[in-house]
Amino acid sequence: VPVDGTTLTLNPATRPAPAYDIIIRSGVSADAGPLIATVAPASRYAVLAPAPVAALHAEHLLASIRAAGGHAELFTFPDGESAKTRATWSDLTDRMLAAGYGRDTAVVALGGGVAGDLAGFVAATYMRGVPVVQVPTTLLAMIDASVGGKTGIDVAAGKNLVGAFHQPALVLMDPALLRTLPVDHLRAGLAEAIKHGAILDADYFDWIARHAGELLAGDAALMTRLVARSVELKAAVVAEDPLEHGRRAILNFGHTVGHALEHASGYTMLHGFAVAAGMVAEAEAGEAAGITASGTASRLADTLRACGLPTHAGTFDVDGLLAAMSLDKKARGGTPRFALLQHVGGCAQAAGGTWTHALPHNALAAALRHVAGAR
Ligand SMILES: NC(=O)c1ccc[n+]([C@@H]2O[C@H](COP(=O)([O-])OP(=O)(O)OC[C@H]3O[C@@H](n4cnc5c(N)ncnc54)[C@H](O)[C@@H]3O)[C@@H](O)[C@H]2O)c1
Ligand SMILES: [Zn+2]
Repeated sequence: VPVDGTTLTLNPATRPAPAYDIIIRSGVSADAGPLIATVAPASRYAVLAPAPVAALHAEHLLASIRAAGGHAELFTFPDGESAKTRATWSDLTDRMLAAGYGRDTAVVALGGGVAGDLAGFVAATYMRGVPVVQVPTTLLAMIDASVGGKTGIDVAAGKNLVGAFHQPALVLMDPALLRTLPVDHLRAGLAEAIKHGAILDADYFDWIARHAGELLAGDAALMTRLVARSVELKAAVVAEDPLEHGRRAILNFGHTVGHALEHASGYTMLHGFAVAAGMVAEAEAGEAAGITASGTASRLADTLRACGLPTHAGTFDVDGLLAAMSLDKKARGGTPRFALLQHVGGCAQAAGGTWTHALPHNALAAALRHVAGAR
């Protein structure tokens, strides 16, 4: 019994999660069973997937888990960002409870970033947290959403505002699953790969530009290399800063403007397309502010165009974009913050050691007019 006035201290160092494997191999989803059984032994596996992805890709995965002796069931939910809600979360958790899933459960998230975030959040909260295995099926989910442990849902006040860090027990990336992905979603994923090159690796950036055509045509070997390099780059940043206190912010390059564009489009614009235009705008503004080397924005635009990505986002109200940015999660006291390039292949560190910058209003407004305003 604690004596009145006694303070007990829990060790906060238990917070960072243990290491986990990311396996990138064509066909890996069809022999996932033994891999999942090893890292996430559970008496029951709940495979959570949006209906269209389940129809395409759940069968082999379920069969493989069952063949390895696991009890696996499929729980589907409606497709799209509009399903990444509390309502879907409660529906899934209620169905799992009704089906008798207990603490000895592991969740398998099969699908794009929506499935990863939603199923990851179900896993983070179910019975106070059960393991999750991520099986991403979009390029964006492979190289971005499934690595790093961020899970969550969208609420009326904004995207991803309710969630948790919940690192996966295992991530299985099967580039063969991308064969059924619509090409615009492939392009949207390439935008994030170009971002990885732009912030961390100029050789990789140039490699993507050279191989854009083959990548978009579905070259499996090149796609596997791309996924591997992007994951390697992202994982290194995440490992160094798992809870996003510092340098992890560089992964947000292009995203402050990108999020404002997505918001202004009523979320009809694909995230990767908004980030593509956002990267150009942030590079232009960075150049104008003397932070980013001149010529960077046009080099970015060339590579984005080679991948069929937009460098001009349409006609938006620039004041509206500026207002949206001041409400961004990463804004400080209403001033938006930007991860900026120093040059292609490296980010600029700001005074005080942070990796985000404020931008002069004029530089930002001019770049927004150029990239997203009326022509
Ligand atoms: N957690 C993170 O760190 C993180 C990072 C980036 C993005 N995200 C989130 O990811 C989400 C966007 O992810 P997304 O672009 O993958 O969207 P998505 O999950 O909605 O998938 C896009 C579309 O592709 C379909 N699809 C998926 N895989 C397919 C396949 N193999 N073949 C055919 N169709 C397939 C889906 O059914 C859907 O219609 C957003 O909610 C975003 O917030 C999270
Ligand atoms: Zn992104």
